[in-house]
Order: sequence, then C-alpha cells, then structure tokens
Amino acid sequence: MKPASDPHPNDPWMSLRARFELPGDPGGAPLSYLAGHSLGPLVRGAHLLIEEELEAWSQMGIAGYGKPTRPWMRYAHDLRPALAQLVGARADEVAVMNSLTVNLHLLLARFYVPRGQRRKVLIDTPVFPSDRMAIASQIAWRGGDPSTDLIVIGPRPGEWIVHPDDFEEAIRRAGETLALVFVGGVNYLSGQVQPLGRLARVTHAQGACFGTDLAHAIGNVPLALDRDEVDFAVWCSYKYLNGGPGAVGGLFVRAPDPQAAPHPALQGWWGHEEQTRFRMGPVFTPEAGALGFALSNVPVFSTAPLGATLPLFEEHPFARLVERREALIRSTMDRLEALALPGITCITPMGEGEHGAQLSFAIGPIWPRGEELIRDLASRGIIADWREPHILRLAFHPLYNGLDDADRLVEGLAGINRSGR
Ligand SMILES: Cc1ncc(COP(=O)(O)O)c(C=O)c1O
Repeated sequence: MKPASDPHPNDPWMSLRARFELPGDPGGAPLSYLAGHSLGPLVRGAHLLIEEELEAWSQMGIAGYGKPTRPWMRYAHDLRPALAQLVGARADEVAVMNSLTVNLHLLLARFYVPRGQRRKVLIDTPVFPSDRMAIASQIAWRGGDPSTDLIVIGPRPGEWIVHPDDFEEAIRRAGETLALVFVGGVNYLSGQVQPLGRLARVTHAQGACFGTDLAHAIGNVPLALDRDEVDFAVWCSYKYLNGGPGAVGGLFVRAPDPQAAPHPALQGWWGHEEQTRFRMGPVFTPEAGALGFALSNVPVFSTAPLGATLPLFEEHPFARLVERREALIRSTMDRLEALALPGITCITPMGEGEHGAQLSFAIGPIWPRGEELIRDLASRGIIADWREPHILRLAFHPLYNGLDDADRLVEGLAGINRSGR
C-alpha cells in the first residue's frame, strides 16, 4: 500500500519515524497513522523499558522498590523535568499520577471553593464529556445545583469554536458569582487552541481560579503555564506523548502548597514525605510541591513508556516541532483547498497559534459518514477517527508523520469523493 519509492526522499525528518512502531496493513506495509490526537503509536524504546521492569520484578521481587536504576519507589520522579519543560513549569509543580479524570476530581476538590454567591463554574462547549461530568458532580457534591451553577459558553450560531472575545465577555459577565473557569487547552473536537494566559488573567481579575485540561495540548502545542498564571492543569499521556493506552497521567499546580486552606489536598500515603512514609504514622506530612497531591504508589508498567517517549521531545526543540507540523498542515490544506471537494469543511481555525496538530472536518451528507468513512479511509491506508455529530478528526504528529501521509490523505479524500456514495 505504501509507495515502493519514497516520494519525498529529501525529507530529513523521516529517520525519526523509525523510532516508532506504526500499525501496518495485512501485508505489513505501514499505514498513515493520523490518529495521534486519540492514541499515539508505540515508541520502540518502550519495549526495553517495560522488559527491564518485568525482569527486575522477576529477579528481585520487592527489592525492585530500591533498585539502583529507576527504583520503583521514585519511578516517576525523573520524568518530571521533561514534563515541566513541556508545560512551561518548574519540576516541583508537576507530578505523574492517576488518569486525567481522577486528577481533575482531585484538583477540583482543592480548587473549587464555592462560597456565598461565588459558586459558579464556567466551561466551554463542545467540552469533553468527562470534564463536564466531573465538574457537575463536584458542584452537586458540594451541595450546589449544576443546572444553575454550571455556566456553559458555546460557539456562535453556525460555528464550532468559542471565540476568545466571547469567552472573556462570559467571564466578565459572571463576575463575582464565579468560583472557577475550566477550559480545554486544545479543544478535543475542533482542535482550537485557547489563549490560556489571556483567559487566566481575566478570570483572576474576577477573583476566581483558572484550570485547564491539557489532554490534547501536552506534546502538541507550546505551553507556558507559569507565565500564563494557570492555577492548575491535568493531562493524559496517551495522545501526543505516546505513553500507551491508559498510560499514567499528570497534573500541574502553580506554586503548590498541598496543605493550603481552605481545602488541603486529599491525602494518601504516596503524597506523604518519602523519608517518613514507611514509619506508617497516622499524621500526614506532605511531600513538597505537586508530589503532595499523590495518593497511591506509582503504576510502573503504565509509566515505563514515558521514559522512551519524553526524550524525543528533549531532543527536538518545540519550535522545530511546530515548524514541521505546520509544513505538513500547509501541504495538506493547500491541496485540499485547490481541490475544493464539496461537502467537507475544515472547522479548525487556521490562524497562527490557533491550532496544533489536529485538523477537524465537518462532513456533509453527500459523504459516507461515521464508521463507513473511517473504513473507507482505512482501505486507502489512512487511520483517522470520527466524533459525533459529524466530525472527521486527524492529526499530523511532527515526530512520525510525513509529507507522504499528507499526500495519501489528500488522494484518499479525493478518491472517496470521486467514488460518491
Ligand atoms: C479532552 C479530554 N479530556 C479528558 C479525557 C479523559 O481522559 P481519562 O480517561 O484519562 O480520564 C480525554 C480522553 O480522551 C480527553 O480527550
């Protein structure tokens, strides 16, 4: 399925693809993997790291917690500088733990502080359903009413994205009733990037907290959480970070003080300071920084792949990754615009800084839709995904996608369009 000769022989980025294991067709030819916004592919080095821990478990058993390299006791600690770099924070402000929604609940417990009339939470829509569920249930759990305490700002009629001006206006309008603003750093459906610093500043001017879901942002767009004065953030590691299905997630807390009033961090033994943890005393003394928000011991096997994937980001300055991804997106969009295929509209904003690697297309009724379209694309060697109501999502990850993938996508869409329904 892959062309026998490389149509882009001078593409210097292509050697990087060899660091990944990309799914292939039944004949073994690699597919164009454009689903990294959903689940990133396997980084080759992950095999060795997982096998290393299996071997240690087999050979050492319990002693693995104190083994000389990568002791399980502090297994995720060494990943923090690389993650901090990716989100624009200090290493002590990030921690590797749990999954995204669990971390969101933990940090809502700390940062959602309804008091008097200041109890509303403002979110944007379309929002990832789990975020909305977590927030609505936290409101109810604190005795509030999600039908009045949850404010949702949506796109203008006929559009798919929330304009930052409209977002700001909604924050100002909520004013003193606002306890928290929560937004996807990159929207899961449209791929739109929200200006976190701008929204955080307006939120703080109203006396409220600002948090963000970075599931689609980490490893995808440059982030500067400290500079932007974001109060807290949560992420998963299985999209642009390529950590594997259900990989351990992470969180950021600005200038973290796990014991700060009025809602100290929820407590668990892995958030207790390491030196005295195994004295098994009843009194909680938190680890310094974001580690004080940890509850449980580190899931070694779902953390191991990050040891292979984060170095790839350290090797390549983010500005270069952005340049590469823009070249792929431009190549795709220029040719799609020239083809002017009917019934397919890009809903991702194309301005500078308004998108990351994801392109989302609204698919009209003249096209096959849903699973049928995804199958048609797969039969042409392209892996993408579909989200209701009628959005085709795909992404160009600068570390493993190339101009050949852009070619195949454009030809594939043109072919499906020509073949009609
Ligand atoms: C934007 C967004 N938020 C939250 C989640 C939920 O993540 P988890 O299952 O790790 O809680 C996802 C999962 O894909 C997501 O895309």
